[in-house]
Amino acid sequence: MKNTLISLFQSRFGKDFRLYASSGRINLIGEHTDYNGGFVFPGAIDKVIMAAISPNGSDRVRVQSVDLNDYCEFGLREEDIPQQQWARYVFGVCREVQKRGFAVGGFDAVFAGDVPLGAGLSSSATLESCFAFAVNDLFNDNKIEKFELARIGQSTEHNYCGVKCGIMDQFASIHGKKGCLMRLDCRSMEFEYFPFDPKGYRLVLVNSKVKHELVGSPYNKRRESCERVASLLGMETLRDAEMADLEGVKDKISEEDYMRARYVIGEKQRVLDVCEALERGDYETVGQRMYQTHWGMSKDYEVSCEELDFLARLAERCGVTGSRIMGGGFGGCTINLVKDELYDAFIGAVKKEFPAQYNVEPEIIPVVISDGARRIE
Ligand code: GLA
Repeated sequence: MKNTLISLFQSRFGKDFRLYASSGRINLIGEHTDYNGGFVFPGAIDKVIMAAISPNGSDRVRVQSVDLNDYCEFGLREEDIPQQQWARYVFGVCREVQKRGFAVGGFDAVFAGDVPLGAGLSSSATLESCFAFAVNDLFNDNKIEKFELARIGQSTEHNYCGVKCGIMDQFASIHGKKGCLMRLDCRSMEFEYFPFDPKGYRLVLVNSKVKHELVGSPYNKRRESCERVASLLGMETLRDAEMADLEGVKDKISEEDYMRARYVIGEKQRVLDVCEALERGDYETVGQRMYQTHWGMSKDYEVSCEELDFLARLAERCGVTGSRIMGGGFGGCTINLVKDELYDAFIGAVKKEFPAQYNVEPEIIPVVISDGARRIE
């Protein structure tokens, strides 16, 4: 990827450049908890977006996407917003940097990646993080705090892409560290690195290839349900709510809002259970909570789909320790915690049974926990 990028940059722009990368993410547990002020447990992975970038001395940005085979040129004022969705991520980052009083000049860029698109691995946050990191390095002497870079990506989603996402994806993509998951408290925004090397187990993703697209998806509606319940309870977020609080207002809310809040309150506890279990090396409990998250997301939060339910059931039948839909939902991957000795049989069953049922070859993605945003050259 690196060599293709360099030669494309050279032939298109013919000058010196800097090379940056940022990473996709996994999340062990804690789904749809970020915008509810709860905990998440993500890590960056070895799937990246890489960009060769050079300031061009003008006030225009010229970007080439290798994978989409598309080119876009835009100015840096609000009214210069580009048509292409992918370019809005880059444009939004530049605007959000400017809104915070930092500098952005024109630049030339070519980028490429191997984060599968729409698979729930946060390809959009990866793109935002890569450019936020680069703009900070190229135009601001790295004066913008790392956490603010994540917020810049999140605001880009809110203000230029129509997704009212939480902070998890951009946070993970920016802060990721090799071999470590991160436990982030999305209320205080404190986080800690958590070395993750479960002896005798492997983490593997199975991509159903059902396209996951949060833009225009019911993601924002889920968030609204949670906010309605929290405000009825007189709380800022559902972080502070217990099941008993929810039961107390059951008659005053819709069945749908009740189900959404029930999932979130349960998920908050599951993340804490998983952290405790990990400290004891108790992977059985970790796995059980993963299955519970899956069925909570499927039945109460209603963000799964038939294919992902099929994969979670198949995992359970193969004796996989834990399996669940990962990320926002509506398609994408399951994340699976599998004992070494069961790995081959599980993957074999997935490769045989999923295509037999849905006529689609699933993609198997072993998880390698890696560094987040960085300058490469
Ligand atoms: C998407 C959002 C995140 C988070 C997850 C669900 O990936 O971007 O902020 O809400 O969904 O956990």
